[in-house]
Amino acid sequence: MTVYLNGEFLPLAEARIPVLDRGFIFGDGVYEVIPVYSKKPFRLNEHLKRLQASLDGIRLVNPHGAESWRTLIGKLIAAQGFDDQSLYVQVTRGVAPRDHAFPKGVGPTVFMMANPLVTPPQALKATGVCAITASDNRWLRCDIKAVSLLPNVLLRQRAVDADCAETILLRDGFLTEGAASNIFVMKNGVLLAPPKSNLMLPGITYDVVLELAVMHGIPHEVRAISEAEVRSADELWMTSSTREVLAITQLDGQPVGDGQPGPEAQRMDAFYQQYKNQVMRK
Ligand code: PDD
Repeated sequence: MTVYLNGEFLPLAEARIPVLDRGFIFGDGVYEVIPVYSKKPFRLNEHLKRLQASLDGIRLVNPHGAESWRTLIGKLIAAQGFDDQSLYVQVTRGVAPRDHAFPKGVGPTVFMMANPLVTPPQALKATGVCAITASDNRWLRCDIKAVSLLPNVLLRQRAVDADCAETILLRDGFLTEGAASNIFVMKNGVLLAPPKSNLMLPGITYDVVLELAVMHGIPHEVRAISEAEVRSADELWMTSSTREVLAITQLDGQPVGDGQPGPEAQRMDAFYQQYKNQVMRK
């Protein structure tokens, strides 16, 4: 696998960073995950905008302009021997003697890799997945896509320990998001989405789903969603760049709706696939 590190394209095994990198020492960096279909990055502008917002959020100067990112990302995609990719971009505050405060005169570390994109197989879409709930114990800047993901790692592992796919997070009695996804609720034919705030990552897939809801006339409301509404949902969906739109059919051991992927989840997944194919053909 060819990766990108600080200006060079090289085999993964040859990519090395010093142990004093602040990404390693402090988790002091941000990242993006960009889905690539048939070698075309999906919603690249939006991902680059979110990367800028994350960099601004940690006061790190963007090492590249949009055009330069596009060129580098294009080269990395072209260098892989497979078409559908999950492109990972990471920027850290660079290498410096350990000290919490920002180092002076140090350039960032820029790393990118492209793994094969694994989206949910049809069999999983047909059954849906199970989820558990947990109290959202993360910091108050979940809108920054920071590499310091320890809370998310621990929360997602709880789901895996319960043989589930995701942990749905509740803060002060309200839905925030999943450990590594956004969560939608379908109730009485209305699609509910929590509003963007410092308490959740503004998902690119989340935006696509809401755009598709507008486009296809699906009634929807963007507003605070209570735990009770999550527990009494007709349908629950998780969305992310790698999971796309996936129905959650069991929550904390209880069936969601009738315990099968609901009709609206299936419809939205079809709209999503259709939209993706349209955009990729352009
Ligand atoms: N994670 N919320 C969190 C906490 C996430 O980590 C992610 C995605 C999302 C969904 O965002 P998007 O639709 O832009 O992928 C929401 C990526 C896939 C990851 O960390 O691997």
